[in-house]
Amino acid sequence: MSPAAVLAAVGAALPPHTVSNDDLAARMDTSDEWIRSRTGITSRHVAGIDQSTADLAVQAAAQALNGSYSPGVDALVVATTTPDRCCPATAPTVAARLGLTGVPAHDVAAGCTGFLYALATAAGLIAAGTAETVLVIGADRLASLPRPDDRTTVPLFGDGAGAVLLRRGDADEAGALAPIVLGSDGTCADLIAAACPGTLHMGGADVFRHAVERMSTASRRAATAAGWDLAAVDRLVPHQANSRITSFVARRLGVPDARRLSNVAHVGNTGGASIPLLLTQAHADGRLQSGHRTLLTAFGAGLPWGAVALTWPDLTHPTEGAGHDR
Ligand code: ACO
Repeated sequence: MSPAAVLAAVGAALPPHTVSNDDLAARMDTSDEWIRSRTGITSRHVAGIDQSTADLAVQAAAQALNGSYSPGVDALVVATTTPDRCCPATAPTVAARLGLTGVPAHDVAAGCTGFLYALATAAGLIAAGTAETVLVIGADRLASLPRPDDRTTVPLFGDGAGAVLLRRGDADEAGALAPIVLGSDGTCADLIAAACPGTLHMGGADVFRHAVERMSTASRRAATAAGWDLAAVDRLVPHQANSRITSFVARRLGVPDARRLSNVAHVGNTGGASIPLLLTQAHADGRLQSGHRTLLTAFGAGLPWGAVALTWPDLTHPTEGAGHDR
């Protein structure tokens, strides 16, 4: 049997400063009611100028490592759309700050799907025999991308990081990643774009349509690849773009809303951090428990998409202290 990548620990980090919808309404032409009804978001965490993407990544990774029995880390992958610098990549700096100087470390750029692409990269490193354990981190400061007065994009985004540790294991054990489904459509690259450097532009309605379609299709394929019927899914963990998108996806898949995990209300869209941040919070507060058949799916600027299934493992160390928002 070929080796599998098995989830062994989770961690997350959120900047302490929060910005509510009312705070936004005080400085632009919007309202709490408009934002909540369109997106499900009520507040978001926003990093100060003294908190970089690397800072958030290190904090999330350190928490994952604290909650792990793993003896070491052989490689590190950071998924981010908001690296601290265009060059060099963020990952080697993060590795060095974690005391992992010398391990292979690189960034993955795949928008809000970056975490799933990074999982696939890490699983490949394990399958290739390059690494036994890989830290996969999603970290973004998306709140810094929109033009500060753009009411159509500012309310959507927040900052944060999430991390998981993958170890080499067997395909039939809890935590093993089933085949990861990935795709992209660069013909729609202009739907969500930010110049380098520059501000974000988004065609909201088209993004909405693509997000629902691509995440639903990828989720179906990932469930099939895992040998699951969709009715067997206990927890759907969609990229937290906004709650209308994720509830449409759940409905399309026939997954009851009670099984759709969400934290978007208090963190907004945190890009590559979205899924590992939600996994960490849901694991900490019991929404995600050992044995739950869990389906992850994401969609992002590019347009890339992806999905993967795993049975949630028994993570024996608690991870309280990660963001506790829901
Ligand atoms: N407050 C008040 N009014 C607003 C705001 C705001 N914050 N933003 C836009 N409006 C106005 C618009 O100007 C427009 O006014 P008009 O009719 O006078 O022109 C009106 O509200 C309706 O605007 P729409 O864009 O049609 O609003 P819609 O109902 O489509 O909701 C939204 C917009 C929430 C962005 C929706 O299109 C959406 O969810 N799109 C998905 C985008 C997304 O989640 N992207 C995340 C990044 S990409 C990713 O993560 C994959």
